Amino acid sequence: MKKILITGGAGFIGSHVLRLFVNKYPYVEIVNLDKLTYAGNLENLTDIEDKENYSFVKGDIVDEEFVNDLFSKNKFDGVIHLAAESHVDRSIANPTEFIKTNIIGTINLLNAARASWGDNMEDKIFYHISTDEVYGSLGKEGFFVEETPYDPRSPYSSSKASSDHLVRAYFHTYGMPVKISNCSNNYGANQFPEKLLPLMINNITQNKPLPVYGEGLNIRDWLWVEDHARAIDVIFHNGVLGETYNIGGNNEWTNIDLVKLLCATMDKKLNRTEGESEKLITYVTDRAGHDMRYAIDATKIKRKLGWEPSITFEKGLELTVEWYLTNSDWLNNITSGDYQNYYKQQYKN
Ligand code: NAD
Ligand code: TYD
Repeated sequence: MKKILITGGAGFIGSHVLRLFVNKYPYVEIVNLDKLTYAGNLENLTDIEDKENYSFVKGDIVDEEFVNDLFSKNKFDGVIHLAAESHVDRSIANPTEFIKTNIIGTINLLNAARASWGDNMEDKIFYHISTDEVYGSLGKEGFFVEETPYDPRSPYSSSKASSDHLVRAYFHTYGMPVKISNCSNNYGANQFPEKLLPLMINNITQNKPLPVYGEGLNIRDWLWVEDHARAIDVIFHNGVLGETYNIGGNNEWTNIDLVKLLCATMDKKLNRTEGESEKLITYVTDRAGHDMRYAIDATKIKRKLGWEPSITFEKGLELTVEWYLTNSDWLNNITSGDYQNYYKQQYKN
């Protein structure tokens, strides 16, 4: 591979993938295409922005002409597609934006890659990054495997499911060299504080209420973002074309237990008395259509590609909390302006 396009590289997961690829593959040119929505932040990439093999292009994947133009000016050998609208609550408030970016944006990239590669698809890869949420909601038992039928329930997961189907359709119909992975909830540095962990970290720091939806009994399977980036590297280079890989942390938590663990971790870091932050927990109106449980069976990627999480959850959580406390400027810059309006609207009840 000589030149790779990474979309959504200014976002949470994308910035970790970029950092890994830019540092690990100095002879590969890496182009970061990002619209810089509210979730995109070039501050996430200051440590690699001057590297010779890195460049940034600001643009919208929904803009077909722009995407075609980018592919005709650059001969990309590979695409790693992360750009998306990614927050379930925002998809409930405004589904249309999700349809545009996640579905139309993906088909624009598929079409542009196909036109650019023509019949010469050997050694090319179009790698689509997806989520476990496409599989729907589990009860107490069972796990999502690669063959689990799709059953998305939120506008976000429906739009991601739709894009996954399109990527597979291009494999079967046009022989496009595609790969897909479906990952569980990520946590770590640089995550926008609309998602559970950074939102709670920010509120604990500021002694603000911790809004737990419903009874806090919904379950998520948490994976450290740098381990996701490592999995993406392994799949991109060694995964089989046309195949899907589930990625997960084998690390299930109810939301309430997770928030309590976070409170205890932060009490220590902030030198608060034990139990102080937990007093901030406030149960709020549940999310509409709130999926009960996600849990990934990551046996395939472990067996076939030798990937597994590298650190324990306790360690990852501690590193994450330390990062947010050390990088309070990053958080302050993000939580000024539009974030305040979003927060007021989302948590008005
Ligand atoms: P994010 O919201 O932090 O970042 C998304 C990035 O995409 C931002 O930089 C944004 O500016 C960019 N973007 C949005 N719309 C765009 C457009 N129209 N054109 C170009 N760029 C655009 O998201 P994330 O959490 O980093 O997720 C990245 C990918 O991973 C998504 O596809 C998401 O579905 C998937 N995923 C996320 C998780 C998770 O826990 N966060 C888990 C599994 C899969
Ligand atoms: P989130 O980080 O939005 O990820 P996802 O919905 O994609 O899994 O939410 C994780 C869990 O935390 C989910 O069950 C919803 C819950 N949650 C709260 O209880 N309070 C909050 O303020 C947020 C943002 C999420």
